[in-house]
Amino acid sequence: MLNFEYYNPVNYVFGRGQIAKLTSLIPKNAKVLLAYGGGSIFNNGVHKQVTDALAGYEITEFGGIEPNPRYETVMKAVEIVREKNIDFILAVGGGSVIDGVKFISAAVKFEGDPVDILVKRIRILDNTIPFGTVLTLPATGSEMNSGSVITIDKTQEKLSFGGPAVFPVFSICDPETVASLPKRQVQNGIIDAYTHVMEQYLTYPHDALLQDRIAESILQTLIEIGPGVAENPSDYKLAANFMWCATMALNGLIQKGVPTDWATHMIGHELTALYEIDHARTLAIIGPNLYRVMFDTKKEKLAQYGRRVLNITETDTEKAALEAIEKTVEFFHKMGMETKISNYTNDYESTADFIVKRFEERGWKGLGERQNITPERVRAIVEMSY
Ligand code: NZQ
Ligand code: ZN
Repeated sequence: MLNFEYYNPVNYVFGRGQIAKLTSLIPKNAKVLLAYGGGSIFNNGVHKQVTDALAGYEITEFGGIEPNPRYETVMKAVEIVREKNIDFILAVGGGSVIDGVKFISAAVKFEGDPVDILVKRIRILDNTIPFGTVLTLPATGSEMNSGSVITIDKTQEKLSFGGPAVFPVFSICDPETVASLPKRQVQNGIIDAYTHVMEQYLTYPHDALLQDRIAESILQTLIEIGPGVAENPSDYKLAANFMWCATMALNGLIQKGVPTDWATHMIGHELTALYEIDHARTLAIIGPNLYRVMFDTKKEKLAQYGRRVLNITETDTEKAALEAIEKTVEFFHKMGMETKISNYTNDYESTADFIVKRFEERGWKGLGERQNITPERVRAIVEMSY
């Protein structure tokens, strides 16, 4: 097992009715920015629950943080926070709103041009505005991690940043908020969480036995509940397990002491930046083809995954590994994913050239757990995904 430090300061507040606790979680004299997305919180009653709980606080509202949050949009909130001397931010929504708020939190007191946080990928260590979250879409784990992904419209780039100063102070996770999610978003959430586990698990055999078993149990639970929660998001038992799985998939725990990959995400982010394909759907396109192209370095772990998670009985490693990839694609299809770029756009033929050029410009010469996903392999993965 590799050496590690596990730091996670988020007060994770889970369950029915927990939104009412906001008043004990935000300092009484705080000036609060209430940040949200395109309005789902008005339709499902979450906005009312939040404002009822915060009666008596001085609140400024900032709506309109879009899916795949834009730098240009969140900079407007940065100005408001500076002008009004706001000292606490509450993000109410899915990963996009939470990620947007992480950026606002980091940008307000940033010395220099805030775009550098993204372009130069500055690690945020201090000088942030404290923020909490009310999660309404289980998927990203952003409610319990310190990462964020922001799109710069001007350059069509989707870039990530993070650091120990952008953990939420608290996150309220009430599974009842899942009930109003459109089926497509539930499907996205399951597949995003599933792929987060794969990025941290599907590498090569190592000595971290517990991390493997935790990762496998999250995958098994997602397979068990995924189709059901997509059909019936108001089933509390299913919604609760979905929410906790998505958090556990990316709150840092399963990545401690193990090698990690993350190339599926890096390539997938480009597909969202280019074609606005939902984040999870880019992962369903790229993941299986990455496992195919990187088969030689991943086959042992693929076979382990196949046997332990997918109940494959094949004893030959290569055959079990191939079967595991096929069964993964079957699960993605069952969860409503389409697995080709051409399912989303007709104009895809230059995609590989574009992505390879971009990665080369960024100096990304070797991605993945062994840094052996070269630009040429990225090309092969993307072309296989047409
Ligand atoms: O904007 P509103 O009106 O709120 O509607 C949203 C949005 O249209 C809707 N929604 C959310 N909760 C709802 C609801 N509709 C009805 N009922 C509810 N309870 O769902 C739509 C999608 O929301 P969004 O926040 O964009 O989805 P998600 O949580 O999947 O977040 C995706 C973003 O997170 C980034 C992705 O790249 C993408 O930008 N990621 C962030 C990560 C992180 N911070 O650690 C890791 C991930 O890998 C990912 O990259
Ligand atoms: Zn993701």
